[in-house]
Amino acid sequence: MTASRSAIRRLDYTAPAYLIDRVDLTFELDEHSTRVLSRLVVKRNADTAEGTPLVLHGEELTLEAVKLDGALLSPEQYTLSERDITLPAIADTAILEICTRIDPAANTALSGLYASNGNFITQCEAEGFRRITYYLDRPDVMAKFTTTIIADKARYPVLLSNGNRVGSGNSDKGRHWVKWVDPFRKPAYLFALVAGRFVALTDTFVTASGRNVALEIHVEPGNLDKCHHAMAAAKKAMRWDEERFGLEYDLDAYMIVATSDFNMGAMENKGLNVFNTKYVLARPDTATDADFDGIDSVVAHEYFHNWTGNRVTCRDWFQLSLKEGLTVYRDQEFSSDLGSRAVQRIQNVRSLREAQFAEDSGPQAHPIRPDEYLEINNFYTWTVYEKGAEVVRMYATLLGRDGFRKGMDLYFKRHDGQAVTCDDFRAAMADANGVDLEQFGLWYKQAGTPVLDVEGVYDDTARTWTLTVKQHTPATPGQPDKLPLHLPLTVGLLDRRGQELPLRLSGETVATGGSRVLALRNAVETFTFVDMPCQPVPSLLRDFSAPVRLNYAYTDDELVFLMANDNDAFARWEAANTYAGNLLRNAYHALGRDEAAEVPQQFIDAFAKLLANEQLDPALVALMLELPSENALFEALNEVDPGRVHQARQTVKETLARELRALFLAIYQRLNDGSAYHYDGDAVARRSLKNVCLDYLAELDEPMIAELLANQYRRADNMTDRLAALAALTQRDDGEPFLADFGNVWQDDALVMDKWFALAATSSRAGALSRVEALMQHPAFSLKNPNKVRALIGAFCLRNPQHFHAADGYGYAFAADRIIELDAINPQIAARMASCFNRWTKLEPARRAMMKGELERIAAVAGLSPDTFEIVSKALAV
Ligand code: TRP
Ligand code: ZN
Repeated sequence: MTASRSAIRRLDYTAPAYLIDRVDLTFELDEHSTRVLSRLVVKRNADTAEGTPLVLHGEELTLEAVKLDGALLSPEQYTLSERDITLPAIADTAILEICTRIDPAANTALSGLYASNGNFITQCEAEGFRRITYYLDRPDVMAKFTTTIIADKARYPVLLSNGNRVGSGNSDKGRHWVKWVDPFRKPAYLFALVAGRFVALTDTFVTASGRNVALEIHVEPGNLDKCHHAMAAAKKAMRWDEERFGLEYDLDAYMIVATSDFNMGAMENKGLNVFNTKYVLARPDTATDADFDGIDSVVAHEYFHNWTGNRVTCRDWFQLSLKEGLTVYRDQEFSSDLGSRAVQRIQNVRSLREAQFAEDSGPQAHPIRPDEYLEINNFYTWTVYEKGAEVVRMYATLLGRDGFRKGMDLYFKRHDGQAVTCDDFRAAMADANGVDLEQFGLWYKQAGTPVLDVEGVYDDTARTWTLTVKQHTPATPGQPDKLPLHLPLTVGLLDRRGQELPLRLSGETVATGGSRVLALRNAVETFTFVDMPCQPVPSLLRDFSAPVRLNYAYTDDELVFLMANDNDAFARWEAANTYAGNLLRNAYHALGRDEAAEVPQQFIDAFAKLLANEQLDPALVALMLELPSENALFEALNEVDPGRVHQARQTVKETLARELRALFLAIYQRLNDGSAYHYDGDAVARRSLKNVCLDYLAELDEPMIAELLANQYRRADNMTDRLAALAALTQRDDGEPFLADFGNVWQDDALVMDKWFALAATSSRAGALSRVEALMQHPAFSLKNPNKVRALIGAFCLRNPQHFHAADGYGYAFAADRIIELDAINPQIAARMASCFNRWTKLEPARRAMMKGELERIAAVAGLSPDTFEIVSKALAV
């Protein structure tokens, strides 16, 4: 076991002993031996005692020379360790010149400077800059950077870094150089350098105040025709941020570079965002509607970071949600304003629940502002990002749209150019609105998903309806006791016709509106609504007003009623989701008793009514018809038998397909009208419903259905329809030739091949694991490429529970073998894969024991990275 590194704690924060004012970097690029010259203007910080040595971070560097104020230091004057260099104390201010050598081609961790397809790319967040040169690599050290890049002109015609390009020229040995100046102070994690053979799609944007911004999307040759959607997204995001938050772009150019070797989605380096190709490249024949959507949100997300992250950054990494939660909230709002707010909300909540709620009830549970870590890369989590966004959303719900804007304005007014904390953000929200947000601070401290137990009592003589809400948060590792949280609970009350009743709380003089935000602060709260002419059906947690689990004893009749009537789209979807979830659980338990899994007629009728309702947004209907996933079902069960989970869901789905065959077919045929592909909200919505119908129909073993699937696969003029048909075919015994055809046709398109690998990996047909193992030998697969690992191994281990949890334990052994292999290549990716063992205590005893065995096997590997060690040791500690 490793763990030679000790935990970093939030409360141990101290201001940096030294600051860096300026950094002048010169790179002489070479695949195996890049020389980095760094000239730093270092200042002793105000409270630092004289004589305090200067310690700079540095990893995997070969030090060639250090000069202090022009004098070369001899090796006795400094101390080198695996992680840092200790230099003599600095009186007041000094010039430090450091020359190091690095090997980008050997950098398979994809952190720092690395080679990708013959190009150079950097990734510095969170702590990658220290793999480029010795530096104070912490976000509260903010400096002005200049960067000079020298490289072979023929192999690296394009040389990019942050800020504005101020000079260029030819140099010796066929080399050329370009110099960049970034006028804004920034932490090292926002540094970027890109060099190589790229072609660019260019455009311009005129800001609200009339400044011209050059827009450039740099991609590898051959991909220019796939950049138009990303470019349009960038322009929409720039306009939106001006209109919604009054925030303008601040440099002469905004550049995006796409690379296929990338650990995450994208990175917001100042003026030079680096993207995973997945979030840039798209054409109707290669990308699905979901991919186009993903591009909109990731482009917007990275662009929005320019203010929330870059202009105002984080004091330390425990504050990560300050920029990530806020920026996710902003990109969600952007997508809501652009498309359907309801659909956006439901999709976000669905993934929050599946991934974040699971994280929050498992061994890795942590508050959105964690208290300690071994490896910060492990904290780019669903909790920090998505729950963080929910916490930001709650400010907006409690303060209102204008109040939230006032808080944002004050935040930028106070903190532009600073590295700050989550508490500073909360203070800006409180001060701008003159409200007390002290208790709200608990959202940053407490892990775990709060539970609201809700009851409603109607008094027909007093004509009142009294709502009682009890809240508690379950214990999480290291946090046995929790306090009640301050949160908004949005409710509406529906009459028998499904209309919202006017809401008046006792003590109020007039009724206002049909939807109300109730602020909860205590463990138990009651609210009495007066003038209730009849017993209402409550519509609770509207718009998912807080990231909580809500329990209310709805009858099936009430759920059906809400499915048909609620005018809050989220609550309406939620009713369908709750009903379907109950049904799947009942089916699972019935199968456990060797009984048949029944689907009540009432549920079938409710689905039929939805399908027949042409007034509803087809995208909303599609979402309501999708059954909760197997992973979602796991969370609602204990001592889980994964095979039975699959069987239960499958049985219910088949029953619905049989019972509603005629309707599914009619809607499919109505929507499959042969019109040419077009990307807009309506068309996307119609395709989504059409393909949900197709997915149900594919359960039926009929020649006519086989033909329908084959036709859609062959004739589709876009990837959304082709992939939907192929996905359905992949689950059937007649799907093999189609999958083979697809793999052939698209063998040279890396992103499309990722879809192909993922389909094979998530197939429910027998033999999935051996097919995955065979595909690891496919020429398009590589363990060194994170997209490939996620597409094949990640999809199998995280999204194919039936086969991953196969009773023989081979799925577990396969996962552990791959995690161990990957750990030596790319620890960040290995640690992400290791999360497939997180929920091991949920399983029935035999599987639980096997999973634990594999976790122990991983933990025992000599030289295991801190990344993987942190995940597996926490998983074992529960
Ligand atoms: N800050 C990036 C974002 O959310 C994500 C990020 C963090 C990242 N660490 C990374 C991306 C490492 C790539 C590699 O937009
Ligand atoms: Zn981000």
